[in-house]
Amino acid sequence: MKRIIIAIDGPAASGKSTTAKLLAHKIRYLYLDTGAMYRACALAAKRQNIDIDDDAALKRLIDNIHIQIQDSEQGNITLLDSEDVSQAIREPDISLLASAISAKAIVRTKMVELQREMGKMGGVILDGRDIGTVVFPRAELKFFLIAPVEIRAQRRFLELQAKGLSPSFEEVLKELEERDKADSTRALAPLIPASDAIEIDTGQQSIEGQVAELYRHYQTRIAEL
Ligand code: DC
Repeated sequence: MKRIIIAIDGPAASGKSTTAKLLAHKIRYLYLDTGAMYRACALAAKRQNIDIDDDAALKRLIDNIHIQIQDSEQGNITLLDSEDVSQAIREPDISLLASAISAKAIVRTKMVELQREMGKMGGVILDGRDIGTVVFPRAELKFFLIAPVEIRAQRRFLELQAKGLSPSFEEVLKELEERDKADSTRALAPLIPASDAIEIDTGQQSIEGQVAELYRHYQTRIAEL
């Protein structure tokens, strides 16, 4: 059976990574969380105290860091210079910094190159913001996940609480709104649906329902190829 490239884009907390991970498991595809790569860049910048608006310093940083994503039964493992930073990149302050650093051309060029290299053989699901528009514009199957911001904020709020963090709901909502705005209005590879992406509203759906819906589209697409 043909092993295709599946792009799943959408705003923060729209259910991309959970759905992508479960679908990848079901159809035995590799799963790549591209947001984790921008988060790893942000973590590196924070640790090295880099001002991301200092182009020369940012270039030095990006030229010298080594980011790898490994897929495992539990999900993706993100390595920054061989250190497992999978937990550290989920800290709330990294989200906004990841969004800011991802607007920089030097960062996107390197990350997109890595993503294309990792996905080129097919049999892969990538989730992100620009997979269907920029990274793999010829991906055989593209989804764009959406959900009302209040529902996405509620999901993220519960996730953070489960990790023992205690942000207020308003803080989480504000952070998502800020990030949505920055990600969709930036000049480079903004968050927009590809013209041939299938829009899925995850607002009222269970995770199982989402995975089943994407799986149905996958089966239809595979049968056409
Ligand atoms: O998916 P995420 O929330 O972990 O992504 C963190 C940030 O990285 C997001 O706010 C924007 C950026 N990003 C991007 O610009 N392009 C991608 N393909 C994935 C993420």
